[in-house]
Amino acid sequence: MCANSYASFRRGLTGHLSFAIAAAALGSAFQHGYNTGVVNAPRDVIMKFINATYTERFNEEPGEQTVTIIFSIMVSIFCIGGMVGALGTAYVAETFGRKGSLLLNNILVFIAAGLMVFSKMAKSYEMLIIGRFFIGLNSGLNAGLVPMYLIEVSPTYLRGAVGTIYQLVITITILISQIVGLPQVLGTEEHWPYVFGMTLIPAIFMLATMPLCPESPRYILIFQGKELAAQKALTWFRGTIEVHDEMDEMRSEYEATKLVPKVTLHEMWTNPVLRTPLIISVVVMLSQQLSGINAAIFFSTKIFESAGLNKETALYATLGMGSINILMTIVSLVLVEKAGRRTLHLVGLGGMGIITVLLTLCMALKTLVPWLSYLSIIWVIGFVVMFATGPGSIPWFLVTELFGQGARAIATSIAVAVNWSANFVVGLSFLPLTTVMGDYTFLIFTVFLAIFWIFTYKRVPETKNKTIEEITSIFRQQIYQ
Ligand SMILES: *[C@@H]1O[C@H](CO)[C@@H](O)[C@H](O)[C@H]1NC(C)=O
Repeated sequence: MCANSYASFRRGLTGHLSFAIAAAALGSAFQHGYNTGVVNAPRDVIMKFINATYTERFNEEPGEQTVTIIFSIMVSIFCIGGMVGALGTAYVAETFGRKGSLLLNNILVFIAAGLMVFSKMAKSYEMLIIGRFFIGLNSGLNAGLVPMYLIEVSPTYLRGAVGTIYQLVITITILISQIVGLPQVLGTEEHWPYVFGMTLIPAIFMLATMPLCPESPRYILIFQGKELAAQKALTWFRGTIEVHDEMDEMRSEYEATKLVPKVTLHEMWTNPVLRTPLIISVVVMLSQQLSGINAAIFFSTKIFESAGLNKETALYATLGMGSINILMTIVSLVLVEKAGRRTLHLVGLGGMGIITVLLTLCMALKTLVPWLSYLSIIWVIGFVVMFATGPGSIPWFLVTELFGQGARAIATSIAVAVNWSANFVVGLSFLPLTTVMGDYTFLIFTVFLAIFWIFTYKRVPETKNKTIEEITSIFRQQIYQ
């Protein structure tokens, strides 16, 4: 049985498919992950740059508050760009196709990199801010386009594993950005613009590789109505001309699409066949961001320091956490086709929920029982492990699995925009929250996680090993029962 599934795994993962996965995922998810983490390590040198630029321009030194505000705008405008980009996904993906959009999206990288790299020379922190907005736009588009392309070109029994690759590249590139930004590497007063210039490398990689891959066969068949071209593309991906079963499956998705009138926002909301999976997609996206993962990572340095690690060791501990995130995402990639999406998501959310309680207990009691600080380290690591088990990767591709071709792009747009918005809100609110709630901040996430767990348990269907047509019919049956 095991050898059998391994054999079919190997058969499905042809050289061509692997190449297409690399071409689509490496260049795109790099921008999403790298630019999420890139501002942390060189924080001090960038603040110095803002200070010096401001001083020279206005002939007076800015207050500490002014520098912090400008820096925070630069950090958070990335998420705003992400939101706007996500909202544009549907239009772009349907107009230029998945592949065409991914290629065009690199124009934004060149604009962003130009602005950010030359901001120091031009003595303009505004350029840095606008550059971060553009790379946010690019990342927001990627977060919808790439999982869509990956899911559409993968055979059914590999969809989850291939979809997980988007998050895997994010975790890897967050770690890369933290290393590249270190003062020992490029995070110096002189060289920090190159940290932002690194974004050009994956863009060039994608421009060199993606043109060699075909457009998604589902897009070719269902949007362009070109049956023969779709079959040719599918043959390329599968490495065999025996693609009749899959062509049949795509045709039935096509037929089902025709039953639904042109999908609009209004239709998404009023038609229960579409509304139910849309609500599931949005809640699953929220569960990723409102799980408190970013708060935990932010807190981790403090937790490590309060356990007596010095600043430098705490930094390495942060890099260690990034590595654990990567390793666990790989484990999840292997498990997702066996255990299923729903199960892994439930295990992840449940584990995170329990850990928030244990962590809060340890933090609250640490003055009474000092060794509890060490236990806190274990809980923070466990929190990241549980995140990577399911909530880290599954939301990105689950939304594209829940919809047929007609509604997929628009649903992805909405769900991914919700993800970036939640990311933005958590980023802005957790510092003020910690001043109010102190050691008890994580209890907020306990409540969220409990709600998301119950919702997932009651409403999220298992999509493992089901064709898209089988999945969408679940929602049709729910209505006509
Ligand atoms: C700005 O730079 C000046 C000169 O290096 C320094 O004295 C001042 O403390 C800095 N201000 C802030 C807010 O960092």
